[in-house]
Amino acid sequence: MPDNKRILITGHNGYIGSVMAPWFMDQGYDVVGLDTGYFAPCTLVPDVMRIPTINKDVRDITARDLDGYDAVIHLAALSNDPIGNLNEGWTREINGQGTIRLAAAAKQAGIGRFIFSSSCIMYGMSDAAVVDETAPLAPRTEYARSKADAEAALSQMADDGFSPTSCRNGTIYGLSPRMRFDTVLNNLMGNAFTTGQVVIHSDGTPWRPVVHVQDVARAFQTVLEAPRELIHNQAFNTGADELNHQIRDLGQIVAETVPGCTLAIVPQPGADQRTYKADFAKFRRTFPDFAFWWTARDGAEELRAAFASSGLTHEQFTDKRFTRLNWLRHLLDSGLIDDALRWTTPAMRVA
Ligand SMILES: NC(=O)c1ccc[n+]([C@@H]2O[C@H](COP(=O)([O-])OP(=O)(O)OC[C@H]3O[C@@H](n4cnc5c(N)ncnc54)[C@H](O)[C@@H]3O)[C@@H](O)[C@H]2O)c1
Repeated sequence: MPDNKRILITGHNGYIGSVMAPWFMDQGYDVVGLDTGYFAPCTLVPDVMRIPTINKDVRDITARDLDGYDAVIHLAALSNDPIGNLNEGWTREINGQGTIRLAAAAKQAGIGRFIFSSSCIMYGMSDAAVVDETAPLAPRTEYARSKADAEAALSQMADDGFSPTSCRNGTIYGLSPRMRFDTVLNNLMGNAFTTGQVVIHSDGTPWRPVVHVQDVARAFQTVLEAPRELIHNQAFNTGADELNHQIRDLGQIVAETVPGCTLAIVPQPGADQRTYKADFAKFRRTFPDFAFWWTARDGAEELRAAFASSGLTHEQFTDKRFTRLNWLRHLLDSGLIDDALRWTTPAMRVA
């Protein structure tokens, strides 16, 4: 029986959460999800199980919502740079202030463990050497800043009764019921499968740490179950050194996975040449028994098989449901959410 048994997972209705919440249920946890449901209908494959849900915005959380939990895993966020660039205030409020509000409520409710889904993106992207957790943070976007600010605030809240841990993920790939095609490997695979081509618009040299969504769920479980002294007020780059890949290397893996696929590296002026390589020694040292099960090649093969069995079309691949920015724009344009990203019709929320 797990120690921290009753857990609240925010953002359980998103890409990672739709894999992580069932994973924790399977592991014997009593899981409740909390989500405002922006992407609830954006499913590529069916949900594997139904998760008891609190339908609420993290900006409205109070300590009463958090009564009776042993731990909070906080995934809910606006989850990339393009959304942050569309309106910086949304990302500041939801990712930054929303996280602080949730953590304060958790602390007030006497919850001892708080795991924050952070990002390696906060190191900024440069030609600098490999970045470990002691590297100075250089967030260059509102999204990255929101993660850095939230981590700093969580750290301030840490005390004998409240242990926040920040898991700094690389870019995540792999199959999820609420698929995203706006992350690198998922995008390359979707394009390769539906067009027979992988086209890389930079020179392909930039580095990205990638990690499979199921390994992220397992890593969070390991952090949750670790003795307090190992994780109290700590940040971990969550991944493994061999999971740092150059984009052209990912392109090659994809081209080799999809039969008949061609790879073209077409550097364009102004192409995204941002690069970063993460050092994962601290994670390895702290959790020596944890093994990342998935390689990028295994993940590409998983996606190929899933696309083949569902008959993924190019129309589906490019559908707004699978690109977070496009779906939010759709919700805004159709008046379903207002310019504060609040639902205008309560019935549209997740049941
Ligand atoms: N996917 C990645 O590659 C990646 C990498 C590093 C970090 N992360 C972080 O992991 C977390 C989950 O990422 P994801 O890829 O599953 O994103 P996602 O966009 O698929 O899911 C985010 C979920 O949060 C919910 N949410 C957003 N704003 C909310 C609010 N105000 N109140 C309640 N719920 C709200 C959304 O409805 C959605 O279900 C995020 O914090 C993200 O920043 C993701």
